This record gives sequence, C-alpha cells and structure tokens, in this order.
Amino acid sequence: MFHVENYNGTKEENYELVIKQLKALLEGETNQIANLANASALLNQFLDEVNWVGFYLKEKDKEELVLGPFQGLPACVRIPFGKGVCGTAAQNKKTERVPDVNQFPGHIACDAASQSEIVVPMMKNEKVIGVLDIDSPIKNRFDEMDEKYLEKFVQTLIEYL
Ligand code: SME
Repeated sequence: MFHVENYNGTKEENYELVIKQLKALLEGETNQIANLANASALLNQFLDEVNWVGFYLKEKDKEELVLGPFQGLPACVRIPFGKGVCGTAAQNKKTERVPDVNQFPGHIACDAASQSEIVVPMMKNEKVIGVLDIDSPIKNRFDEMDEKYLEKFVQTLIEYL
C-alpha cells in the first residue's frame, strides 16, 4: 500500500517528497495513534544518522509530556514542561535544535548514543499538543534546513490529527 521511493534529489527535494508521502500515508485516516506511528516510521526510514524518532504528547490538564509512538530504544515515559530538550520546546512553543546534547543543561539521556537532537513543538489552535523529538548519534546533525522542513512536516501532520 505504501511505496518507499528513493530519496535521490537535493536535500530540499527529498524533504518535499517525504512530506508528500506523509500526506499520502495519512489521507483518509483520523486515528491519532495510527497516524503518529506511521509518521515516526516514515521519518525514521527517510532520515540518516538518527537513533530515535518519535512523539511526546501533552497529558490532558497537565503541564507534562507522555511518550507517544516512536522508533528507537525504549525511552523515558514522562517529561514535565520545562525539563530536558522536549519539555523546554513544549514550554517555549519553539523548536530546540541542540548541536551537542552534553552542553544542554538538563538534557534527559534516554539513549546514551544520542549526541545531537531536534525537538519541534506540535501546535493546534495556539496550544501545544505534543512534540516531535529526533536524536542523532553524531554531533551537529541538524541544520537550519532540517529545522525548516521538520517544522513543515509537523505542520502537515497536525492537519491530520
Ligand atoms: N532527550 C530528551 C528526552 C527524550 S529522548 O531523547 C527520547 C530530552 O532531553 O527531553
């Protein structure tokens, strides 16, 4: 049902393609767990040099994130707003791009292999509903273009949640 195409264009073209694939994958489906699970699997096969790709979702009536669908090693389940890279992005409603997690005060180490990380908040009606979290085993994995397109990816995904 889903054909993985080769990502052999420029970085920009490849991101545009994966966003197109995301739309095709989610079209007609409204189940949140299914859509987040497929979105994490899609990103995981698209991105190189990553060791964790997944979602933390806001707990109802709490300033807390709880583990959602992901690809990677088992991870910590609950992260309060303001804690770690994920909680900081959720609190500030702003993407956190961390070139070296060892330099980020309060970074929560789930997988000891992680060296750099990007966390994109998921916003609906100006409220944080969760975050997309991606870890890499190399430093400086994510640049401005990754940030721009991962925000676009999240924007597209939100429309299907
Ligand atoms: N490193 C994150 C915790 C989640 S794991 O990376 C999957 C953080 O500091 O918030």
